[in-house]
Amino acid sequence: MFDYGGSTALVTGASKGLGEAFAEALAARGMNLVLVARSTKKLNDLSARLYANYKLQCTVLSVDLADPNSPKALAEELERRGIQVDLLVNNAGFGLSGAFLSHDRKQKQAEIEVNVQALVALTHHFGEAMAARGKGGIINVASNASFQPVPYLATYAATKAFVLHFSEAIRHELAGSGVQVMATCPGPTATNFFEGTSTRMSPKDMDSSESVVRRTLKAFDQKRAVAYPGRISVRITSLLPRLFPRALIARIDGNATAKMGLDD
Ligand SMILES: NC(=O)c1ccc[n+]([C@@H]2O[C@H](COP(=O)([O-])OP(=O)(O)OC[C@H]3O[C@@H](n4cnc5c(N)ncnc54)[C@H](OP(=O)(O)O)[C@@H]3O)[C@@H](O)[C@H]2O)c1
Repeated sequence: MFDYGGSTALVTGASKGLGEAFAEALAARGMNLVLVARSTKKLNDLSARLYANYKLQCTVLSVDLADPNSPKALAEELERRGIQVDLLVNNAGFGLSGAFLSHDRKQKQAEIEVNVQALVALTHHFGEAMAARGKGGIINVASNASFQPVPYLATYAATKAFVLHFSEAIRHELAGSGVQVMATCPGPTATNFFEGTSTRMSPKDMDSSESVVRRTLKAFDQKRAVAYPGRISVRITSLLPRLFPRALIARIDGNATAKMGLDD
């Protein structure tokens, strides 16, 4: 079992949704926290609440991970403050829904920067330090979208395919190093993720952040390579691409995202 008590977790995208739930769950396990996102006030409010409830050391860093310089600056700031990261939760991410060509190229690049580039840079920096100490953990938040092409969330799903494959591969490379790596693949979860989209999905058809985080950490404690923290129907859809031709899967997923209202 990962040694949570008294060690420090860095959670990206901690201002709301799954990141906030990760922070809460890890604080309850006795961890100190580094909370990272752009929304300073939300991070400060969360930090104050967690301190009141758990008396932990909580560091707030307002960082825009779409800026390619941010991961290095973040690592340097933690070094300056003498904070060692024992568990890295690469959770920050967003998905632009709608037709690929309808988006501005800069927005797409920001999506790749946050979901992929920042995750790789932070994994490299903190993974290197963990491997040198012979101890640590990395949880990368992928998605049920990692398993298939998803029209109208094309770039997003491709970034999440990257996160899954990358995590599985470095888990293998780091086996025996004392650094435990896992990807988690939630399905639709009731967070702010769909805010600003015209989705017709009801929150009751989604999992809660708390249950996704609980199941993710349970899988991490079981030393799984991949967590499937969603309801059973989500797990079944992740298996379909193994059974059917990829072109058919793209068609099924395109119809599903259109039905969810994500095509405009
Ligand atoms: N909800 C779902 O259905 C679902 C399903 C599968 C996977 N996921 C994944 O779960 C993770 C968390 O998403 P969520 O559902 O909790 O969505 P959310 O409620 O929208 O939270 C997203 C988090 O990412 C942060 N973030 C976004 N852009 C950022 C940037 N440029 N720099 C720094 N932080 C940034 C946000 O903070 P600020 O806005 O304060 O910067 C926020 O804390 C994402 O990786 C998402 O892809 C979600």
